[in-house]
Amino acid sequence: MKLTYLGHSSFLVEEGKFKGVVDPFLSGNQASTTRPDDIKDLTHVFITHGHGDHIGDAVQLAKANDALVITNAEIADYLSSKGLRVHAMHIGGRFRFDFGTVKMTPALHGSGIKTEKGMVYGGNPGGFVIEVNGKKVYHAGDTGLTMDMKLLESEKIDVAMLPIGGNFTMDIDDAIIATDFIRPKILIPMHYGTFQVIEADPKEFKEKNKTCETVILEIGQGYDF
Ligand code: NI
Ligand code: MN
Repeated sequence: MKLTYLGHSSFLVEEGKFKGVVDPFLSGNQASTTRPDDIKDLTHVFITHGHGDHIGDAVQLAKANDALVITNAEIADYLSSKGLRVHAMHIGGRFRFDFGTVKMTPALHGSGIKTEKGMVYGGNPGGFVIEVNGKKVYHAGDTGLTMDMKLLESEKIDVAMLPIGGNFTMDIDDAIIATDFIRPKILIPMHYGTFQVIEADPKEFKEKNKTCETVILEIGQGYDF
């Protein structure tokens, strides 16, 4: 499996013919080196919650690639009205797709979708456990630290992606506790540095994380496992 960091909370997840993107915030993120047009043969788009820095370029990407959007029921309903192919899930649910399994996990956050007509209800925010060919990744979405993360230990996660930027989500110290709860083999920090209020040093996280290996990805960099 290959993970490629596209900046903020966005990752490409590739394994065989499966090519998914999580939270594709690209054109709105000046730090991202990937434009939506650069991404070809995308099969799936995962959206953790309704905020603009997570829905991002999902509509354009899903349309251009005829990719299936996997997200919570409320966001799925909203995107379906825009003509996208959607698969609605919800917190705690797992489904077996043709490429592998996906489970939606809880996140402690908001999920409103900002539109020209005002805020649209985006259901509960979540995260994803995505398993393809026996490789398992956990993308937490935006969340504060919760005891629920202790339940993820039994999932035997290979690679977990956790926010560390604070203000809207866990900061470094809370992400250290979350890592201890989840016990993944590898931890990749995300959701830091994009905005002034979420400045955080991933090297500080790496120094403090005694639970597992920390992999810090530059924007555009890939990681194979
Ligand atoms: Ni958010
Ligand atoms: Mn966010």
